[in-house]
Amino acid sequence: MASLLPILKERYSCRKFTDQEVEEEKINAILEAGRIAPTAHNNQPVRVKVLKEAEALQLQEATPYMYHAHLAFVVCYDKSKEWIRPFDQMGSGVIDASIATTQMMLEITAQGLGSTWVGHFDPLKVKELLMLPTNIEPVAILPVGYKNQEPSHLHDTRNPIDHFLI
Ligand SMILES: Cc1cc2nc3c(=O)[nH]c(=O)nc-3n(C[C@H](O)[C@H](O)[C@H](O)COP(=O)(O)O)c2cc1C
Repeated sequence: MASLLPILKERYSCRKFTDQEVEEEKINAILEAGRIAPTAHNNQPVRVKVLKEAEALQLQEATPYMYHAHLAFVVCYDKSKEWIRPFDQMGSGVIDASIATTQMMLEITAQGLGSTWVGHFDPLKVKELLMLPTNIEPVAILPVGYKNQEPSHLHDTRNPIDHFLI
């Protein structure tokens, strides 16, 4: 039986990249992994901005965590398209964008590339720099490149299974 665990265990936050350019086929495979992700009510509110070279480096104005990457994906959702849970009006956009980001991160790993999920950014600055419409909310930034770093100690720091269960 096939398992996803080898890819899940291979993934780690990579914060240093080589100068090698990421091939267009790999970029397309990563986008495909996000495109096919499930979304609440199949509303598909996720929108992704692909940034290369100067555009990616420009994001350093919005976060200290771009790690000089020459390629980045900014995963967003459209507030006007997200499913709203009727009981408490919770919007599912952040969840939908997070699932897409996770699938993209795993495809990045499968393509032999590295990345880090970056959530520490100024959303208003990102919107301004990328000239995003007001209904588009950025959720995650994935700086991407060929890995030039081993996993940090945090990668192996996980609670045991009895802490994971309630
Ligand atoms: C929602 C989220 C936000 C994160 N934001 C950042 C960030 O802004 N900067 C950063 O360097 N790492 C960020 N990380 C990466 C975590 O620090 C990392 O996943 C964690 O330390 C475990 O290490 P590992 O990914 O190597 O297993 C984020 C991860 C997640 C899931």
